[in-house]
Amino acid sequence: MKRHLISAADLTRDDAVLILDTAEEMARVADRPIKKLPTLRGRTVVNLFFEDSTRTRISFEAAAKRLSADVINFSAKGSSVSKGESLKDTALTLEAMGADAVVIRHHDSGAPHRLATSGWIGGSVVNAGDGTHEHPTQALLDAFTVRRRLIGPDAGLGKDLAGRRITVVGDVLHSRVARSNVHLLTTLGAEVTLVAPPTLLPIGVETWPCEVSYDLDAVLPKSDAVMMLRVQRERMNAAFFPTEREYARRYGLDGDRMARMPEDAIVMHPGPMNRGMEITAEVADSPRCTAVEQVANGVSIRMAVLYLLLGGSEPATTPHAVTPNTVRPEEAQ
Ligand code: NCD
Repeated sequence: MKRHLISAADLTRDDAVLILDTAEEMARVADRPIKKLPTLRGRTVVNLFFEDSTRTRISFEAAAKRLSADVINFSAKGSSVSKGESLKDTALTLEAMGADAVVIRHHDSGAPHRLATSGWIGGSVVNAGDGTHEHPTQALLDAFTVRRRLIGPDAGLGKDLAGRRITVVGDVLHSRVARSNVHLLTTLGAEVTLVAPPTLLPIGVETWPCEVSYDLDAVLPKSDAVMMLRVQRERMNAAFFPTEREYARRYGLDGDRMARMPEDAIVMHPGPMNRGMEITAEVADSPRCTAVEQVANGVSIRMAVLYLLLGGSEPATTPHAVTPNTVRPEEAQ
């Protein structure tokens, strides 16, 4: 694995399977009465969030804490960023605090790459979503969810998603989740189809390693998993579809449409959901929808990523593993 996680395209099949398998170990820790591992004791993880987030921010925080890292949460609102401080000066401040990893979410595509290649900080950089570009840990937790649901936790170990048919539906144009998923799912051997109105597909989508369709009803019966994307109003500066009703009628998933999917096929959503827009409440609350499971899986995936980037070669889940940063009781005197 590389030192940073900026793009899902940076991951080889072996890297991705290693992360999924490590996340399986981490998920087992979540079933223990004491959910904490000493693996990253003495390490500092900074969550640097320039954009709103519920799931991703608390998920990284929970993941770092379960690995015993010290966690510093920084959000642009209420910080010196609102006084005009630059990314560089913010980064230099974090470096002075001794950050071993910086998890960054930023409204500008490319900000995590800039942080990783600038030399401003010495630690690992993890992209937690940059503009409309990438969100690699979301793609990893989505792949993990598909593997667990369609193959099973133990049977899935070491396996990729060869031959699984995954359909991604909606606002692809503004979605970093879609781009990261297309990269990662195809690396893992899945067949990906994007379904969207032509106005919500990015220029150059024909060069992506996936199929494109405008007809949701035709694709649903051939899907093992259907991933609904949020319509990202905050990124829209024009009218991309006539009305919300029209969008929901053509591209929304309701109970009737879900019935066209194969019996074991699952419905996914990264959250936050626009209920009544891309997904009806009936589908969102059905047992076939994995949205809440995806959140739980996100913690295991982010534990795996932080462990693999920072933890080195020590076994991840041995309860009393002594890592180079573990202070032995006699040393602590
Ligand atoms: C996604 C994001 O922020 O890119 N959500 C998430 O991380 N769980 C998708 C979205 O906002 O629609």
